[in-house]
Amino acid sequence: MKKVVLTGDRPTGNLHLGHLIGSLQSRVKLQHIYDQYIMIADVQALTDYFGNPQKVISNVLEVVADYIAVGVDPQLTTIFIQSQIPALPELTAYYMNLVSVSRLERNPTVKAEISQKEFGESVPAGFLCYPISQAADITAFKAEVIPVGEDQLPMIELSNEIVRRFNRVYNTDCLKESQAYLSGVGRLIGTDGKAKASKSLNNAIFLSDSPEVIKEKVYSMFTDPDHLKVSDPGKVEGNVVFSYLDAFFEEKDEISSLKEQYRCGGLGDTVLKSLLNDVLQKKLRPIREKRESLSKNDLIEICFDGTKKAKSVAQKTLVEVKKAIGINFFGEKSDNFVIF
Ligand code: TRP
Repeated sequence: MKKVVLTGDRPTGNLHLGHLIGSLQSRVKLQHIYDQYIMIADVQALTDYFGNPQKVISNVLEVVADYIAVGVDPQLTTIFIQSQIPALPELTAYYMNLVSVSRLERNPTVKAEISQKEFGESVPAGFLCYPISQAADITAFKAEVIPVGEDQLPMIELSNEIVRRFNRVYNTDCLKESQAYLSGVGRLIGTDGKAKASKSLNNAIFLSDSPEVIKEKVYSMFTDPDHLKVSDPGKVEGNVVFSYLDAFFEEKDEISSLKEQYRCGGLGDTVLKSLLNDVLQKKLRPIREKRESLSKNDLIEICFDGTKKAKSVAQKTLVEVKKAIGINFFGEKSDNFVIF
């Protein structure tokens, strides 16, 4: 039996080059090694956008299109929608008893988000508790490997605490601990030189961008503000064009010699940008074409099939959990409540 690997994305916008190197490329590889699940975390996204559900709803199929376009294969990967799996909030309810409010308040990622969102004294309970719901996501599928970025490590730690506590309190071994797998090749900086490419900062190149938009974004990239004339020596560190070449241009020797030339002076920004534009156009063309070939119906079908499978897997875990607690009042008949 292959180990289960699970990841999730909040559907709040189209995916971009940062996602490609941060998570998507590794998912395309992992699907051949593990039994892979990818969850569209719409419920978690609603902890931020409860007042604007359309923002979440309209992005669900967009994100699925991005997955398929980069090579996630629905035959190998189960893609599913979180809100359609009733076992997840049920598991969350049982786990809530095992976690203290102060433990939740100590989660560094949640803490940073709370101060960033300026909730003050009015932190929504759903927001504070989303790491518990994330433990439900992980444990429902008995996932053992969770490819994530650093900011998600506290979630996995909490999930494992819940697993140990549950297994101890109910004298069972039905829940499995999981391990973070730091998957990405690191973070991609924004086209403006800011630390992170992100939709909200409007400094990312999307997988769905047209050739014209890609070119425009490349040519407006931040380079070295002191590199005024071609003959001036230029800085490579913090230079967005070089960061992107490092991430996406396969010819590593050529990058080294370009960097050397740039440092000495005599290499113009436009030459570099034109090279990067060619590299990215070549990389993104097949992704965009695949994306455009997918109909809404194709995407719905992929989600439906994946969600159907995920629902029954999560339901099985829920039955085990209820049995462990002792609230399986209808005995074996409980299993008949599996719908779908
Ligand atoms: N919190 C993750 C993020 O913001 C998304 C997520 C939800 C997730 N449930 C998960 C990731 C379970 C891994 C496992 O990116």
